[in-house]
Amino acid sequence: MLLEMPRHTEIFGSVKVHELQRVLKLDSGGFENPRAKDISSEELKGVLKRSAIVVPVKNENLNLLDGVLRAIPFDCSIIVVSNSERVSQDTYKMERELVTNTHDLTQQEILIIHQKDPGLGSAFHEVGYEEILEKEKLDGKEAGEEAGEEAGEEAGEETGKEKKEWLVRDGKSEGMIIGMLLAKSLGKDFIGFADADNFVPGAVREYVMDFAAGFCMSESPFSMVRLHWRYKPKVVEDKLYFKKWGRVSETTNKYLNLLISTCTGFETGVVITGNAGEHALTTRLADLMCYSTGYTIEPYHFVFLFDKFGPREAEESAEKVGAEKAGAEKAGAEKAGTEKGGTEKASSEAANAGIEIFQIETLNPHLHEEKGEAHINEMLTGSLRMVYNCRLCNDYVKSKVLAELEGLEALQEDWEARSRWKGKPSHIMPPVGRIDVGKFMKVLKSSSESLLRCKQGATKCEVVERGRGEKKNETSSFYRP
Ligand code: GDP
Ligand code: CO
Repeated sequence: MLLEMPRHTEIFGSVKVHELQRVLKLDSGGFENPRAKDISSEELKGVLKRSAIVVPVKNENLNLLDGVLRAIPFDCSIIVVSNSERVSQDTYKMERELVTNTHDLTQQEILIIHQKDPGLGSAFHEVGYEEILEKEKLDGKEAGEEAGEEAGEEAGEETGKEKKEWLVRDGKSEGMIIGMLLAKSLGKDFIGFADADNFVPGAVREYVMDFAAGFCMSESPFSMVRLHWRYKPKVVEDKLYFKKWGRVSETTNKYLNLLISTCTGFETGVVITGNAGEHALTTRLADLMCYSTGYTIEPYHFVFLFDKFGPREAEESAEKVGAEKAGAEKAGAEKAGTEKGGTEKASSEAANAGIEIFQIETLNPHLHEEKGEAHINEMLTGSLRMVYNCRLCNDYVKSKVLAELEGLEALQEDWEARSRWKGKPSHIMPPVGRIDVGKFMKVLKSSSESLLRCKQGATKCEVVERGRGEKKNETSSFYRP
């Protein structure tokens, strides 16, 4: 692969944000070139083998999911995390059949799980990662919790009813966290994300190669690759218009850049991937980050990194304001006792090594299912809210963000939404590094009813049967790609 060198790197505390790099060619000739980085296919393959690609999916067209599964390079493991309908129409069953068929034909490693699997909720509960669970259920259960838990350990199956109480919340971000844990259970070093609603399989393949290229360039074990679409084509008066910027990303980037500019005193436009849904990170970085809920996960990556690894002086002056904002991680880590030490140690290692963010402009355009105005507004207000609540956000940036908000039609009428908006983001989930993955998988394997693992090279998939911990083979002919 041949990529442009980044022209400039913004150093913001321990965070290094590389300026946009274009993909010059999807392959390369192996020639020396001071202006471009040549990455051989062997190098890329080496990274792909250590990567898992998580595909979050919620009621997407199966033909699109099919294209995505077939486009992801063979050397990666695929992890599908579904929050699709199971009641009126069992979409999850169809997705699962698609997975087994794809695996039967390709022998690529693919895992699939359902987000609302009660066994999955129990596994998170057992390892103490309650921040991902539905709140109402938690509140309702607190009283009888202790007794239930103890009995549960001895009685196994019979506590099924109580364990049903633990369910993972809805949300793309929550699905992504599930995917990260499964990737860790496979021992992967790199975790990437690809949406299931992509119309062009060839583009998905490129995204994964771009991730790998980013990791090949990285000098730090704590790095992240974020993609910027070359174009996001739209149909305008029955013609394809190759649009460059979306409204949400333009606004998010503007304010993330303003955060950096006001801190350093030098104006910058370095951030152009604030809302990059397609991104990847090293497992070591994934382990120590906090995650925001739903669609705000991507802009929050920056906010978290600025807060935690941004310039020291700014951090100290913002200490008073932000003391309680570090809340989620602190509370979680304290609960985890010694694990706090682990995360803290990793964080100081990261601060020393530096955190690298690569922003790569894809060669392929991004064509995906359009989800409507409400979705766009939700993403926009969510992203602004993240910036507003950043520890480094001074009064000037706050006033600018508020002014932006004033102009938003969606919030013109809805005063209640406006007042709620300024509050602290509600669900910031602590680092997954503190989760004991072995324990998590043990509980998951013994209580999950939706987890399916199709290993590389095997001709049949392993179904983990609930309660029995034994496996049977599954093949299906329902949906043939
Ligand atoms: P956009 O592309 O950023 O506008 O957002 P999409 O609505 O396309 O969502 C991105 C991906 O996340 C798609 O593949 C969705 O199917 C998937 N997704 C959305 N909500 C959920 C959810 O609650 N859980 C999971 N697992 N996936 C979700
Ligand atoms: Co989409």
